[in-house]
Order: sequence, then structure tokens, then C-alpha cells
Amino acid sequence: MKLKIIQFCFLLFAIFSCSKNEVDLESEGQVMKAHSYRPYYHYSPAKNWMNDPNGMVYYDGQYHLFYQYYPNGTTWGPMHWAHAVSTDLFTWEDKGIKLYPDDLGYIFSGSIVIDKNNTTGFKNSANDPMVAIFTHHQNITGKQVQSLAYSNDKGLSWIKYDQNPVLKNPGINDFRDPKVVWDSKFQKWIMVLAAYDKIKIYSSLNLKEWTFESDFGQNQGDHRGVWECPDLFSIKDQNGIEKWVMIVSIGGGESSGPNGGSSTQYFIGDFNGKEFISNQTKVVWADYGTDNYAGVTWSDIPSSDGRRIFLGWMSNWVYANSTPTVGWRGEMTVPREIKLVEENGKHALYFQPVKEINNLKEAPLSSSSTVAQKDFVLENNVTVASASYIVDFEIDLSLANQFEFTIGNSLEKVSLSYQKSTGEFILDRAKSGIVDFNSLFIKPIRSPFVTTKTTLPVKILVDRSSIEIFINNGEQSITSLFFPKFQYSFMKINSNVENKYLKNITIAPLKKTIIR
Ligand code: FRU
Repeated sequence: MKLKIIQFCFLLFAIFSCSKNEVDLESEGQVMKAHSYRPYYHYSPAKNWMNDPNGMVYYDGQYHLFYQYYPNGTTWGPMHWAHAVSTDLFTWEDKGIKLYPDDLGYIFSGSIVIDKNNTTGFKNSANDPMVAIFTHHQNITGKQVQSLAYSNDKGLSWIKYDQNPVLKNPGINDFRDPKVVWDSKFQKWIMVLAAYDKIKIYSSLNLKEWTFESDFGQNQGDHRGVWECPDLFSIKDQNGIEKWVMIVSIGGGESSGPNGGSSTQYFIGDFNGKEFISNQTKVVWADYGTDNYAGVTWSDIPSSDGRRIFLGWMSNWVYANSTPTVGWRGEMTVPREIKLVEENGKHALYFQPVKEINNLKEAPLSSSSTVAQKDFVLENNVTVASASYIVDFEIDLSLANQFEFTIGNSLEKVSLSYQKSTGEFILDRAKSGIVDFNSLFIKPIRSPFVTTKTTLPVKILVDRSSIEIFINNGEQSITSLFFPKFQYSFMKINSNVENKYLKNITIAPLKKTIIR
């Protein structure tokens, strides 16, 4: 009998040792705690729910970030605008809630401009007034109108305009997310507004009275979801040629976007003060990942700087309310500089992390990592375990026509693979950790990339629960969340060839800029 019990115990042990790896990782203290998903250098709220970036504006040395915020829970609820400021785009100081819901409704997305010429008459101090143009959303009727609020103390305190709304609803259910820009050529304010399946363009001399100018996009671009969060700005290419860009986020379910759910497309064209005209016939995506939505650009960056900087919400409405963070939910992408690049007579936007990210670099891992080599393997590595780093490398595509980048531990991984023959990147997070909160999360993320280049630069940012991939200096970007159950410990770059196809690899840990 005793022998039977011992045999039975052995059997049990044998059965459970199938999951030995998990037990091992647990006993080694490798379990990711809920707080381990908190990013180190991407903006996330200290507590509760966040979605779209709003009112991004630069004034007097400070970058302002407002955002859609629900202070009473970790899922979407009655929307407020919360506020943070930074001087370097990475170190953010929380400033609390600035706009609360009122009789006209929740405070939905919108923008802020600096009214340098006091066109509104709101000025009452030495500062230029900051004017927020946002959507009031009536929760019961679903009715949406546009309203104003202003600040004369650099964004610290806000007063809602007493004649709100300034733009009434013309009978359209989806009528929201105003982005306003000063058109210096025509000396007027221009507003782009998402209206279900198109963008409406309005103009104004004082931000209070608006004239309808034109509609854009009903027969252009992707329409598998409702149009949201537009942006309109001018930008010059490397030869000084000026074009106008319209950014449009589009909602929708699992079958929308390039890889499912919330996605962002853009149009390059011209603007004549009334109409935006684009001859673009193909849909062009700003990002092929599933986690870059509702992104727009900072207003009023001084011309001496001259950059156009973009920030998106790093999530997707398909699963945004169920990602496995505790006490907070939602993070922003890294701020990205947009460049207009002309190649063979065609224009495209390139998105790259802003240069300020270089100031966060700790000493690179090792100088030997910068020499040419075949495959690259880091095992049980502290930097990988910190999950807050930047990797740069180049692939010589004349020597290797495929490669794979992988991070993970003995049970979990995220991998990015490229095949020159299929001309496609595939990001696979199906085994990355906690994935069972939504079926979209395990689908491979496919990103077409056909190139004649021989040397392909790749930049990868990892920050605890996110990976952002920038291919060929930002010609393509892929942004994705992931939630490991256990700490990742290795990084690999490999191919199926013996050649030294891998060049100039550097890995640098990045500093924690947001203390929570
Ligand atoms: C985009 C969006 C906007 C809206 C806001 C509400 O993510 O749906 O259209 O203003 O979120 O929170």
C-alpha cells in the first residue's frame, strides 16, 4: 500500500512537471506583477482610465498634454480632460483634471490653440490665451456639439465659454473631435471635424462663429469604421515642397484597419483655404500595429524648432476596456516626429521617435555589440529583464533575405519576422503572456513592406507592456501592446544564413522618466 502511495505521488509529480517551466519561473520570482505593466517612459495615468490625447499644444517652453480621462474607474466612463506638462516630451508632471462634464455633456476629444492675436477677446493677462475647442457629448441623446474653454494662466485654470456651444449639431450623430489650426495664408482659423464618414471643414475669425467650407473623404480612404479624431497641417518635404496632410482615425470591429480594430490613416494633398484635395487613391496607414489610435499632432511648436510631433493612444477599442492592468488603464505611444519624404515623385510620411529619446539612454550595453556579426543572442540579460530599452540594428538584405527578432522567456515570446520574398513583416504576440482577454490579440500583425534597399535600419522600443517598431527610419511603424506573465529574459536576432548580415547593433537601457 505504502509503495502504491509513493508510486502515485511520483505519477502526480510527473504530471505536474509538464508545467515545470511555469513552476520554475514562479519559484525564481519571475512572475510579472500587475504593476510591472506600468511603462517607464510612455505617459500613463497614475490611476484609472485614459484614452485619446487631447489639446496637445506648446507654449512658453512647455509641451501640454490633455487626455480623455475617467477618474472613477478603469473602464471608459463620463469623459473629463486631465492634464500633464513636460519640457522634454518624456518627463511628465501630472496637473490633474481641468475640464469636467457639465449640463451640455461629457468632454470628448478636441484641440487647443494659442490665440496670439486675441481673436477671441479672452485675453486678460500678460499671457496669450490658450483656447480649447472640444466636443460636448450628451450621453442620453448622443448629441454632439462643439464648445470652447480658455485659460489665461498657461493652462493652470480653465473657464468654459458662457455662450457654448459655438457649433451646433446639424443633425449628424457622429459629429466630433475638432482640431483647429491657424491658417497664416488666409488669416483665419480652420477646424476639421469628424462627421461619421467624412471630415467637415469650417473656418472662423474668432473661434466663436464658424462657417462651413467643405467636406472631405466620403469617397476616399478606408470606411470600415466611423471616422474620428482628424488633424490637418502643412509640412515641407526634404526639397522644401509644401504639402498638406489630413490624418483620420477610424474605428470599427475586428475586421477593420490593416490588422483589426482602431487604426489611423492619412492623406497627402493640398489645401486652398476652403477645401482639402488629395489625389491619393490607395489607403495609407500611419501604423500597421493594432495599438496606435486617435493620434494627432502638437499645435504651436515654434517655427525655430519646425517639427511636427505626433502622439497616439496605445490601445484599440476592440479590447481597450479589458487589458490586464490593475488600478490604471491606457498609455500613450512615444512622441513621434513626422517627416514628409519624397521618393520617385511620391510623398509619404515617416514617423520616428523624437530625438529627445536619446537623452534617456543609459550607457549602451557593450561596445562589442556594435560589430558586424551573424546571429545575435542575449540570454538572462538585465536590460531585457528591465523591459525598458531601445535597440537599433541594420540588416544587410543582400546577405539575408529573411530575419527574425524575438524577445521572451522559456514560455513566452514576441517575435517580428521579415521575409523579403513575401515582402511582409509579421509581428506575433500570440504567445506573449496574457492574451485571452480578446481574440484579436492573438492574430498575427501583418505589415507589407516591399523594398529594393540593401541595408534596412530597424529601431525597436520596448517599455514593459509595449513594443514599437520603426522600419527604415520610420517609413513603416508597428505598435503593439503585450502582457508577459513572466519576466522576459532573452533577445535574439537570427536568420537562416551564415553571413554577417547583421550590422551596427546597439542596445541601450532607457531611464525611467515617470515616477508613479
Ligand atoms: C476616439 C473617441 C473620440 C471621442 C472619444 C471619447 O477614441 O471615440 O471620437 O471623442 O474617443 O472618449
